[in-house]
Amino acid sequence: MALKFISAEEAASLIKHDDNVGFSGFTHAGCPKVVPVEIAKRAEAEHAKGNPFKIGVFTGASTGDSIDGSLARAKAIKFRTPYQTNKDMREALNRGEFDFFDLHLSQLAQEIRYGFLGTINVAIVEAADVTENGEIVPTTGVGITPTICRLADIVIVELNKKVPTKLRGLHDLYELQDPPKRREIPIYEVQGRVGLEYVKVDPEKIFVVETERDGEGGGFAPLDDVTARIGNNVAEFFVAEMKAGRIPPHFLPIQSGVGNIANAVLGSMGTNPDIPRFEVYTEVIQDAVIDMMQKGNISFASGCSLTVSNEVLDKFYNDLPFFKNKLVLRPSEISNNPGLARRLGIIALNTAIEVDIFGSVNSTHVNGTKMMNGIGGSGDFTRNSYLSIFLTPSTAKNGAISCIVPKVTHEDHNEHSVKIIVSEYGVADLRGKGPRNRAEEIINKCAHPDYRPLLHEYLNLGVKGHIPQDLYSCFAFHHALQETGSMLNTDFSKYRK
Ligand code: COA
Repeated sequence: MALKFISAEEAASLIKHDDNVGFSGFTHAGCPKVVPVEIAKRAEAEHAKGNPFKIGVFTGASTGDSIDGSLARAKAIKFRTPYQTNKDMREALNRGEFDFFDLHLSQLAQEIRYGFLGTINVAIVEAADVTENGEIVPTTGVGITPTICRLADIVIVELNKKVPTKLRGLHDLYELQDPPKRREIPIYEVQGRVGLEYVKVDPEKIFVVETERDGEGGGFAPLDDVTARIGNNVAEFFVAEMKAGRIPPHFLPIQSGVGNIANAVLGSMGTNPDIPRFEVYTEVIQDAVIDMMQKGNISFASGCSLTVSNEVLDKFYNDLPFFKNKLVLRPSEISNNPGLARRLGIIALNTAIEVDIFGSVNSTHVNGTKMMNGIGGSGDFTRNSYLSIFLTPSTAKNGAISCIVPKVTHEDHNEHSVKIIVSEYGVADLRGKGPRNRAEEIINKCAHPDYRPLLHEYLNLGVKGHIPQDLYSCFAFHHALQETGSMLNTDFSKYRK
């Protein structure tokens, strides 16, 4: 049957107040860019008439500004899951304007299928190609696309002419069966393929909006001294682990988190002559991976999105035959699958907001209250990897904040999963160590020297028990920050009777 072509405005009119809308993509990559802006305009128009208009927003992860920014500014959101990085979205959710459900990214597709989060009414997906028999080829990010396309009553396809149709073949789209029918995922190596190159839906429910839009990705910050030192510490740690026989000579697949630090660590691995060519099994493929594939440092990359700058995206499109042999994009329930992380023996590298001296990590909430982005995939990988590593600068805000604290104000990952912590000062190896030894290791190897005496003072307050946690003063660092503007002014004596 012939496909139904409509305008973005007409597409937005198909969405009703209170609908749950699933969007394709993962980070800004692969997200629709035109219809969500029209939905935001529609919400503003309805609000001006005194009518309610809010939707539930389900995505793979964070999105571009066209989704999260536009909809947050238009106050068009009733519910949002599972992760965001947009300034306007973050401010709105921290004002409590809507409910934000922070979830492990690998779990979202199945929680939608289980019916835990309501019904998906409409899917809006960006595509490189769509055929009359209902084959939809995603663009550069997948996320929850197969699940929302299958479950939604209406699928609006943004057919982006800026994306080459030759992208077909890059994806491996596989949806898990639900219990009790779920079987093992037959992926036994990073490059394993088990699914289709497209999502197949009933063409009757497809509406196509033609667009021509660039990606919404920004660049990466230039390498600073702290980031470069963290990168070098990680690379040297890997070389030592190989010498000790704990990382095999052919290496293990790397998962690297979002942001500048993760990007820089990969760069350092690429320039270290003692690290062999390696593979990447991760969620976001950032600029450094593409560069290292071209240089031959990375032999294959499996991810959920190409979260690259527009400059690198052009490089990728111009050399598609090269990359299609070396790269695969999968749905987030496969890229972040806990079982695959264990089977493949992934080395997980993620960034912390703060870590505590006993090995727990806060990835999400500043001062335990203000949401930064969300847990993202960090939990999927940290809990299940061969080796889980957290990266953090020793301090934030020009030294006023120590990123190593007596107790984290919000706990996303705990000492049972976190194995290694790396700052610009060194590498704390927590494997096989009890609480006091972990604390000594973290303080001496990773904390900023200005904060080491205070952290030792806390550790030696004389609290008895397995973990010497003083419930009166464990947040003394954070109190000092709030009261004086710097954690350096911490005074533990205030808390003694
Ligand atoms: N207390 C208060 N603020 C802190 C802080 C702390 N302990 N540590 C950092 N910050 C501030 C920084 O100063 C910076 O503030 P600014 O935006 O005003 O400059 C901000 O938090 C971000 O810090 P930055 O060092 O730029 O971190 P980042 O961009 O590398 O992001 C996370 C760090 C933790 C927020 C980010 O990695 C994240 O969202 N992680 C969770 C999801 C995840 O790990 N996904 C990957 C799985 S594949």
